[in-house]
Amino acid sequence: MSTTPVENDLSTFIGLFGAERRPDPYPDYRRWRERAAVAVLPGGMVAVSGLAEATQVLRDSAFGHPDPEFLAPEDRRPDEPVDERGRVVRSFLGLNPPDHTRLRRLVSKAFTPRTVERLTPRIEELAATMVGRIAEAGEADLMAELAAPLPVEVISELLGVPLDDRERFAAWSHAMARALDPDFLLAPEVREPAVRARQEFVAYFRELAAVRRRDPGEDLLSTLVTAADDGDRLSEGELLVTLTLLLTAGHETTTNLIGNGVLALLRHPDGVGALGPGGELAEGAVEEVLRYDSPVQLTMRTALRDTVVGDVAVAEGGQAIVLIGAANRDPAVSADPDVFDPSREPGRHLAFGQGIHFCLGAPLARLEGRVVFRELARRVPQLRLAGEPRWNPTTTLRGLAALPVTR
Ligand code: HEM
Repeated sequence: MSTTPVENDLSTFIGLFGAERRPDPYPDYRRWRERAAVAVLPGGMVAVSGLAEATQVLRDSAFGHPDPEFLAPEDRRPDEPVDERGRVVRSFLGLNPPDHTRLRRLVSKAFTPRTVERLTPRIEELAATMVGRIAEAGEADLMAELAAPLPVEVISELLGVPLDDRERFAAWSHAMARALDPDFLLAPEVREPAVRARQEFVAYFRELAAVRRRDPGEDLLSTLVTAADDGDRLSEGELLVTLTLLLTAGHETTTNLIGNGVLALLRHPDGVGALGPGGELAEGAVEEVLRYDSPVQLTMRTALRDTVVGDVAVAEGGQAIVLIGAANRDPAVSADPDVFDPSREPGRHLAFGQGIHFCLGAPLARLEGRVVFRELARRVPQLRLAGEPRWNPTTTLRGLAALPVTR
């Protein structure tokens, strides 16, 4: 595989993400990867599509995130908490050590394997009810009936959002998830609703946090409020951006794991039945979906000093676009990477990232995927596609808006 530094023009690169490529971006990803695992773009940017090179960027301390901006009082927006020095408060996803280390540790203490384990019966109950409804209806949009509502119920339950508020919560999350694309891909019409959603979300959580501070429950929000109250604490701003992170990172990604996974299964010759009569292959199938059609397709890093990726020099300040979806189909790592095979030995993939920012919610996402796939295999092994699926108009998060199915 070549990593020869060939300069590409930005519009050809952006073309990779055009609407017509949405149903299957992978042939174009392959062409980019075959030409250069690290492709040089104008403005000191590189696009990284080889798995080894992408892993290096995510693990290397030479790459990280630029420092948060200082904002003058007149430039501050109500949806963006600022610290006492006037710097934008970022969630730890966008921070470098030592700030990242401190905040991730505080949240990890609240979001333990036991917290996730405790959700298992509830996830099973939700999956049984939702899949049961699809089985009874005969025809359904699987996104509306299962893939979208299940993760929002789970994350709401985890955070401790009252039942009545979950619909509003889902709408904010969807609006914010649409605006996660890098600036060069972001359509102006998604920016405004996302800013509004964030404002409403932050105002909502400011109130709910105050309630939980007075009267803590068993939920993650109460634990985070308590974590904020002993010794090393989360400031109010940090608490609010952490909650926003957990919602956006934990909702639509898992929706897309379920949706992309069911679509891949329905296109497999054995359909959902490929998982075995009791869904025995569900666990491996989750890993295969993550590799084959990753819910998060790209992430960005900035070179914090001059460095080299593959054999390409990246100057301090240069951006690296890590093409997770492309790297996951690198033939150097998986044989027949374009074949979806739920029975294959789980291979290496970057669907949850790598290094210090490795997904904190991976055990929860895997649990939800496993439970849903198993339930589908048991209840509706004969499920079929009932029409063309429709893709969301987003790039960072790859997922379906509609998935018509019939049994
Ligand atoms: C980070 C993917 C579900 C919480 C990440 C990253 C990826 C990712 C790729 C790293 C981003 C980067 O390095 O720039 C996914 C996928 C999911 C999923 C594909 C579902 C299939 C969840 C869930 C939660 C969650 C359910 C929590 C409830 C987080 C958090 C981080 C993160 C907090 C930031 C970690 C850090 O910066 O240290 N996720 N995620 N994710 N994810 Fe997930």
